[in-house]
Amino acid sequence: MAKMIYAGKAKQLWTTDDDQLLRVVYTNQATALNGKRKDQISGKGKLNNEISTLVFKYLAQNGIPTHFVKKISATEELVKKVSIIPLEVVTRNIGAGHFAARFGVKEGLRLAVPVEELYYKSDELDDPFMNESQVYALKVAIPAEIKQIWQLSRQVNQLLTPLFASLGLQLVDFKLEFGRTADGQIILADEFSPDNCRLWDLKTKQHMDKDVFRRELGDLADVYSEVLRRLASKLGE
Ligand code: CDP
Repeated sequence: MAKMIYAGKAKQLWTTDDDQLLRVVYTNQATALNGKRKDQISGKGKLNNEISTLVFKYLAQNGIPTHFVKKISATEELVKKVSIIPLEVVTRNIGAGHFAARFGVKEGLRLAVPVEELYYKSDELDDPFMNESQVYALKVAIPAEIKQIWQLSRQVNQLLTPLFASLGLQLVDFKLEFGRTADGQIILADEFSPDNCRLWDLKTKQHMDKDVFRRELGDLADVYSEVLRRLASKLGE
């Protein structure tokens, strides 16, 4: 019998008959302020599943090891079972969100080099910022794993920045999560969707990501549909 082993803010994880594989269910829930504001947005689960499927396939085709196996329904996918490293790995190309606020810079500042940040994944603690020595002191990961995580994050940025630019979208920042396989390999896990990146329309500067929900700027499903339309026009089968 399939068992739900994890319920996150926008996804559930279920066991399958194969103990190496898990089923991810994308839900319609949107949250802001670390879960303090919640809403159901019709179609969001389906849109994120489709967007993340296209992005993960593209990354896999370009040499990034990922947990993605296949999309199995409108809102579900199969993934390899990994033990998730409890770090949110954020890369920023443009100053926005918390970064802009913390350093008192205007949203939209082009950063001289991409910024790489780690946050400890903990809802109770509101995902505190974590530096590398804190990661090692608390045995969250070992140096070789962090080295691999930075390498993969940089490759993802180098692949996705030009991909989105070719679709008229600026990849402002994004959050990745990584997992360890049974044989100790580090692979990309979680999802890649406008729930965990910022995408700005290159011409209009319109927000095409979850900031539409966070900042109440319009209809989230409309915006995510447009991101999917552009991605599918390039990557769709
Ligand atoms: O988004 P916010 O201003 O709260 O935080 P940020 O540190 O500026 O977020 C940087 C990027 O990571 C954005 O694309 C967020 O959507 C993403 N992020 C995420 O997916 N999950 C989190 N718990 C925090 C940030």
